[in-house]
Amino acid sequence: MRSDWIIEAKNLKKYYGNFCAVGGISFDIAAGETFAILGENGAGKSTTMRMIACRSPISEGNLTVNGYTVGADDRKIRSVLGVVPQENNLDPDLNVLENLIVYSRYFRIPYEAALERSRKLLDFIRLSEKAKAKVDSLSGGMKRRLVIARALIHEPSILLLDEPTTGLDPNVRQEIWEKIDDLRSERKITVVLSTHYMDEAEKLSGRLIVLANGKIAATGHPAELIRSRVGKFALEVREAKGVPLANVDHSITAVSRGSLHIYFGENTDELAKLMPQYGSRPMILRPSNLEDVFLGVIAS
Ligand SMILES: Nc1ncnc2c1ncn2[C@@H]1O[C@H](COP(=O)(O)OP(=O)(O)OP(=O)(O)O)[C@@H](O)[C@H]1O
Ligand SMILES: [Mg+2]
Repeated sequence: MRSDWIIEAKNLKKYYGNFCAVGGISFDIAAGETFAILGENGAGKSTTMRMIACRSPISEGNLTVNGYTVGADDRKIRSVLGVVPQENNLDPDLNVLENLIVYSRYFRIPYEAALERSRKLLDFIRLSEKAKAKVDSLSGGMKRRLVIARALIHEPSILLLDEPTTGLDPNVRQEIWEKIDDLRSERKITVVLSTHYMDEAEKLSGRLIVLANGKIAATGHPAELIRSRVGKFALEVREAKGVPLANVDHSITAVSRGSLHIYFGENTDELAKLMPQYGSRPMILRPSNLEDVFLGVIAS
């Protein structure tokens, strides 16, 4: 048992009526860690994040944040949490700066301090020039950055990001990842993010859980999961419909998905030996990645 756990969930459950959206999950997150919750649509990521944020009551189990119990000490928890919900919920009637100032009132931050923090945050997310712009005139990436800035207005020690970069173009995603990295390294903020992008989880997170139908299907460090679940390398063959999977010994795992065949192994020479039987079909020998783990977990 580590003493620096900042979020502890034990047998956490959420029912919507009779429907079980989160079915008894347990995990711990350490202070200063970046922790990812992965899963397909409907896996229970947002429900879990909303329970941590005290925005959706837990049905069963135990959940503590910073030593406080969710359901009993919600005000205290909210004061240390910054929350970026899946949908941008900015106020369209207010300009960029006003969105930050008005939000700061929930935390009773005096106006002068709120103004100073807002200006610094706009600088941090490089939106100072848009301070007076209406929210509707911002691009998708700018709105997302503004919601992140808003979540930081009360200087939280934990930041919850529900799909921070979904729907954004690769450059903007990269930029948001850099900001998240800065928050972790410079301000030592604990970051909990949900995503269905494997590259995002691999780039940002120390540890992660994969949710499938409200249960934890896998947990660990990305590199560790890749090593233990799929092996170091993958031979991927496309347009292989109708071709039987090759007979392989126990050192190689063979998987077929539609017209795709994938072989996982520790040794590139062994995998390369399988290539001739596919003739001129498109194929690639590459390092395994988290996506391979994810597809395996979801399929199993
Ligand atoms: N308010 C609600 N009432 C009833 N069912 C809900 C509610 N919110 C979520 N659900 C259901 O709970 C399950 C988990 O939903 P959740 O939003 O947590 O998934 P998610 O992993 O965040 O998915 P996505 O990647 O699409 O955001 C889904 O089946 C969803 O339909
Ligand atoms: Mg969601």
